Amino acid sequence: MNLRPEEISSIIRQQIDKYRAQIEMADVGTVIQVGDGIARVYGLEKCMAMELLEFPAPEGGEPTMGMALNLEEDNVGCVLLGPYTHIKEGDQVKRTGRIISVPVGDALLGRVVSPLGRPLDGKGPIVSDKFRPIERIAPGVMKRKPVHQPLQTGIKAIDAMIPIGRGQRELILGDRQTGKTAIAVDAIINQKGKDCLCVYVAVGQKNSTVANVVQKLEETGAMEYTIVVSATASDPAPLLYIAPFAGVAMAEEFMHQGKHVLIVYDDLSKQAAAYRELSLLLRRPPGREAYPGDVFNLHSRLLERACKLSDKEGAGSITALPIIETQAGDVSAYIPTNVISITDGQIYLEPDLFYAGQRPAVNVGLSVSRVGGAAQIKAMKQVAGSLRLDLAQFRELAAFAQFGSDLDKATLARLTRGQRMQELLKQKQYATMEVEDQVMVIFAGVRGFLDDLPVEKVLPFEAEFLKFMKASHPEIGKAIRESGEISKDTEQKLIAAIKEFKQTFVK
Ligand SMILES: Nc1ncnc2c1ncn2[C@@H]1O[C@H](COP(=O)(O)OP(=O)(O)OP(=O)(O)O)[C@@H](O)[C@H]1O
Ligand SMILES: [Mg+2]
Repeated sequence: MNLRPEEISSIIRQQIDKYRAQIEMADVGTVIQVGDGIARVYGLEKCMAMELLEFPAPEGGEPTMGMALNLEEDNVGCVLLGPYTHIKEGDQVKRTGRIISVPVGDALLGRVVSPLGRPLDGKGPIVSDKFRPIERIAPGVMKRKPVHQPLQTGIKAIDAMIPIGRGQRELILGDRQTGKTAIAVDAIINQKGKDCLCVYVAVGQKNSTVANVVQKLEETGAMEYTIVVSATASDPAPLLYIAPFAGVAMAEEFMHQGKHVLIVYDDLSKQAAAYRELSLLLRRPPGREAYPGDVFNLHSRLLERACKLSDKEGAGSITALPIIETQAGDVSAYIPTNVISITDGQIYLEPDLFYAGQRPAVNVGLSVSRVGGAAQIKAMKQVAGSLRLDLAQFRELAAFAQFGSDLDKATLARLTRGQRMQELLKQKQYATMEVEDQVMVIFAGVRGFLDDLPVEKVLPFEAEFLKFMKASHPEIGKAIRESGEISKDTEQKLIAAIKEFKQTFVK
């Protein structure tokens, strides 16, 4: 038999062509079922968990993206991250070979983006050539260092009693409308000029609420160093689910450059609800309160990514302020207890205090920071050391004193002091204070210089006093800021200044 070489080579070529075609088969699947933001796809044998999949585009739009979550024996269950009403049975689905990732870097600062990193603020495209996967293993034990630098929120009640350090995770929890967002936004505004970048992740909020926050950040000049990641209530559940991960991926880029980042997740209850929604639609077995079994893991793998890196790793940090909304003050519900156990402390905001005008409505007894003193400057420790305990005692005493009329002198003195300190811890929104100012006014309070003022004069006193100190004795504030402590000499000067001011202050 005569074989011609051209024939053999053409057969080999055919074989090679077919070989390629087979490989491609594994990279394109077909939709077998679609609905409720979920699609089941057949024929994606090599698909990876969390891989980005490309579905057909709606008319005149960008292709709809999906994310593979359930890798089953004969199909892949994925969630759709965009409009899906145009997708039909039999449509082609392409693998991208990429785990879902977002653009990162300086180009994002000052921008409002979706959890996929697409701009939402109409300020043009985001030019960044760096991407990071949204899911990443948190740095291990050896790469970390204990929290030791303070992160000033500018809020007296928090900086004095529940100090937060760089790299810490501090939960803010409370019922609806108790000032949770206000605390987080103030903390962001207070980072101005403090060498700390911010990421605000809005999950499941109203568009108008997010717009308000962005406007406030712009007005105060905080937007320059802030990224806003927004997945609002009207976005599909999968976007709400990935938003916090997208935010922390952007933060990690800065942390690994040795910078400090503050990230706010507002709020994680809505993320958990979104995750429950898509888990139920994917037919994963429901557990307690119908949340899937791995909802604890969802929050811990997110919050573990906030940390303080060791010097060898560049000493960067991510401080996380997750927010959780409680129902009727129930801190022992499933999601709140989960997140309380993961974080390094919590700030509990109480509706009763809020409505009584005690704002920020921090419940001193139930709030704690487990990092504590390491995150405070010495001067603050000197003046506010026992403030938390004193206030908690005062609240108990005040409840008790309502019944009795004859109180001894010591009890009366305690009540007087407590009322003034409680008043002093009130603070308006968007009125953050520098730490040296906080130290000076708390000093005046704990040393009893406010005891002879009527309670309603405490806040006017504070405002006037700080003005006076700036104008007449700027060196005292400067000494506290620079040395970080109140030396004997500063203490004498401060007492003299307070006495001097009190003579001019009309009650
Ligand atoms: N320190 C404060 N002083 C005065 N008003 C405040 C203070 N903090 C918050 N508020 C007001 O209380 C209201 C609720 O605040 P905020 O939106 O921060 O609460 P929230 O707990 O985040 O609410 P939601 O549950 O709707 O997210 C707002 O109108 C806000 O302006
Ligand atoms: Mg809020």
